Amino acid sequence: MKKEFWNDSVVVITGASSGIGKALLEEIAVFPCQLVLLARRAGDIPKPEAKHKDTILHRITCDLADPSSVQDAIDWISKRIDRVDVLFNNAGITAHGRFDSLSMDVYQKTFATNFFGPIQLIRGLLPFLLKAKGNIVTTSTVSALYGVPGRAAYSASKSALHAALESLRIESLEEGIGVSLVCVPYTDTALRTSGLDAEGKRLAEAPAKGKRKSAKEVAHVLMKEAMDKEARLVTFNLSGKFLEWMRFFSPKFLEKILYKKLYNDFKTH
Ligand SMILES: NC(=O)c1ccc[n+]([C@@H]2O[C@H](COP(=O)([O-])OP(=O)(O)OC[C@H]3O[C@@H](n4cnc5c(N)ncnc54)[C@H](OP(=O)(O)O)[C@@H]3O)[C@@H](O)[C@H]2O)c1
Repeated sequence: MKKEFWNDSVVVITGASSGIGKALLEEIAVFPCQLVLLARRAGDIPKPEAKHKDTILHRITCDLADPSSVQDAIDWISKRIDRVDVLFNNAGITAHGRFDSLSMDVYQKTFATNFFGPIQLIRGLLPFLLKAKGNIVTTSTVSALYGVPGRAAYSASKSALHAALESLRIESLEEGIGVSLVCVPYTDTALRTSGLDAEGKRLAEAPAKGKRKSAKEVAHVLMKEAMDKEARLVTFNLSGKFLEWMRFFSPKFLEKILYKKLYNDFKTH
């Protein structure tokens, strides 16, 4: 990892209290930089084990689903920080349930957290990102590449974010900022217990079956993309590429595979 990139940088991480955001914090805190850490449980964000002595941590309590809380965070940052080199737009929730069983409240909460909150935050911090010619790196999902069964609200909220940020990328083509969408595969985090079930209750699901990434592995990929202004849509592995390509080449075949592979995810909900 290029040390000079992170030294003296100002890095904002949303969702720094758990999982991938917490791993980003651990990995970046070894460089002397300023880290602005947002989460609802910001008070619980621990001091990283290997923190550089000159690294400054700012913990900001922020509920992305609450516009006034997001505005408070923007105001706080605006008063104390004069540029943002990297914004890791990472926080998010999942929501599990069939299209017709997910309550409207769950659709709204999922969009409030995964779409409206991040859009509001990015809009508010854009002058600081433009000043630094910075990078916005979004932790997205392969479920944003196609509407996945049993994940209508989650897939839709993340792919809506893709569209909005692609617009931003094109509009700011001459401003020198980077905007990347990193489609992360299954990763060992609390996502399946921090999200919502169809009725809006806290999910209590076992980790996804099969191979899973560690939060640290994902953090390293996100950090690499943060150094690359040309990064756009990033997929990790063949299953991500498969979704990306099959959408265009054979959506019918892709849907049959998703139906079979994820049958238990939506037939039982
Ligand atoms: N784990 C996977 O398999 C996987 C796969 C693809 C993509 N992703 C994406 O990775 C990102 C990080 O999730 P994770 O897997 O690390 O799960 P996680 O361990 O549950 O972490 C989620 C983080 O988001 C924050 N968050 C949730 N709701 C929030 C809100 N309303 N306001 C502010 N912060 C909020 C949480 O902090 P507080 O609870 O303290 O607010 C927490 O720090 C998400 O965007 C997720 O969609 C994960």
